[in-house]
Amino acid sequence: MRDRIVYLDNNATTAVAPEVFEEMQPYFSQLYGNPSSLHSFGGNIAHKLDEARQRLAELLGADEDEIIFTSCGTESDATAIHSALTTFPDKRHVVTSTVEHPAVLGLCEHLEDAGYQVTYLSIDEQGRLDLGELAEAISAPSSR
Ligand SMILES: Cc1ncc(COP(=O)(O)O)c(C=O)c1O
Repeated sequence: MRDRIVYLDNNATTAVAPEVFEEMQPYFSQLYGNPSSLHSFGGNIAHKLDEARQRLAELLGADEDEIIFTSCGTESDATAIHSALTTFPDKRHVVTSTVEHPAVLGLCEHLEDAGYQVTYLSIDEQGRLDLGELAEAISAPSSR
């Protein structure tokens, strides 16, 4: 008898839930259009996007203008980090860990090239950060 194969990488890519598939199906075949365009195809989609934003905001207890749709994880990382850096332009120190996704580490390398100081915290064999090291890194003079 063949061993059963179990997929354990659902955090990276997983099957779409049937109810999501059903809800999304029209957008792959009938309800398409660039929501930023002025034509009616786009206008209909923009309206649907606004609806989705409202529903998500309600679900998360957030304001609608706090919901940003991105196309992928890499774009989400970059958006979050760049938003923080542009919101606080005086802050030139980024604290991260050595085990972040390459999308984060690559961006941190780029930030170092651009003159930011980046502290890479290591983790223990159980994947935990040393919170004392984290506190020290956060309060380092260059982060103020
Ligand atoms: C934190 C993080 N950033 C980026 C990615 C890459 O995502 P994508 O291939 O959607 O850009 C992943 C993928 O698992 C991730 O976990």
